[in-house]
Amino acid sequence: MTFQAPKGTFDWMPPRSEWALTVRDALSAPARRAGYGYIETPAFEDTALFSRGVGESTDIVTKEMYTFTSRGGQSLTLRPEGTASVVRAVLEHGLYGGPLPIKLWYSGSYFRYERAQAGRYRHFSQVGAEALGSEDPALDAELIVLAMDGYASLGLRGVRLLLNSLGCRECRPAYRAALQDFLRGLDLDEATRARVEINPLRVLDDKRPEVRAQLTGAPLVTDHLCGACKAYHEEVRGLLTAAGVAYEDDPRLVRGLDYYTRTTFEFLHDGLGAQSAVGGGGRYDGLSEQIGGPALPSVGWALGVDRTVLAMEAEGLLTERPRALGAFAVPLGEEARRRIFPLVSELRRAGLAVDMAFGGRGVKGAMKAADRSGARYALILGDRDIEAGAVQVKDLATGDQTAVPLAEVVEFLKGKDS
Ligand code: HAM
Repeated sequence: MTFQAPKGTFDWMPPRSEWALTVRDALSAPARRAGYGYIETPAFEDTALFSRGVGESTDIVTKEMYTFTSRGGQSLTLRPEGTASVVRAVLEHGLYGGPLPIKLWYSGSYFRYERAQAGRYRHFSQVGAEALGSEDPALDAELIVLAMDGYASLGLRGVRLLLNSLGCRECRPAYRAALQDFLRGLDLDEATRARVEINPLRVLDDKRPEVRAQLTGAPLVTDHLCGACKAYHEEVRGLLTAAGVAYEDDPRLVRGLDYYTRTTFEFLHDGLGAQSAVGGGGRYDGLSEQIGGPALPSVGWALGVDRTVLAMEAEGLLTERPRALGAFAVPLGEEARRRIFPLVSELRRAGLAVDMAFGGRGVKGAMKAADRSGARYALILGDRDIEAGAVQVKDLATGDQTAVPLAEVVEFLKGKDS
């Protein structure tokens, strides 16, 4: 019997897997520098946390959750996203009683039973950041700038920022009613008509041409914002511009989760086809209350690690080999193996990336392994070198070879490691 990774999942394998690590690191680095602390929450939670937090009428809750009953009879769900878990943890640990905002970042696996296709998986990876407990447009702008800086640090040039405001509990109901009025007058199928009644904003996101064609005159949320929401949004836009971040206003931007209020945004990459969102987020001022907590106005984002690697690939950025080895040790014979082993250990302890030939292959096989490893140098040790107390350091690109005394190899390689 043989096995394959389940549908909609895949394995990150070397050397490509290095890019997943690079992306996780790069996307979280700006948030870490901005005072966001690391949080890790369980991969599964009470089902009700997501059905209430993410929104009963979202696709995620109605169709995409991996829900199971534990042996103890409790309904649990593999997390489809991170925000509800972070809010749950903040409430559980009473952090809202301390200094605000609470700034947290995370990274991990998320699970959605989606129709699998390129860039859309059932198991995927996100880096996220959340700032909880403060209603300050500078926080919304900060998070957006941090995400854009993360993408830029990877060399990505094609990430576009779409920006919108969804209003608040004061102005959203009137907009929702106006939108419903408009949508009820359209020629829609039964499922979509039902959606108009439950979650009319999602209809704006319908991708079918026959629906799209009818949506041209739909009322826009930005025309229905109250004074406070309008001023808040203007402030966010001004701060983004001041920080040199370009954005596109998109009054039709709708997110796939129900908890959003005011600022919403998405990061798109045009090299990815249909699944073009490499990240997204927004403000969720009511979520804490929805899951039984106090008022805790908050904002955050999650960036897709898998799709960001795909975006880098689309821009031709995966050519360089990430984290290549500095050296590859080739012992010529048993005695050399015994001698080179402590040298390799010493080099690694000194912070150098070093591998060696295993399995007692002949010189040819070992040199081939050295070439394939991508290392810059081969460290070749034969009987004559042992007698001389030296090792041959061969530059694998040029073929130049020098004998370096064993006691000086660390210094020699460190000098070349710049
Ligand atoms: P989201 O838009 O559902 O937001 O997901 C964020 C990002 O995760 C997407 O833009 C995409 O790059 C990636 N992603 C989502 N689903 C998949 C999938 N099936 N396969 C591959 N990548 C995927 C959230 O999850 C919110 N929690 C973001 C947030 C944080 N809002 C406020 N705070």
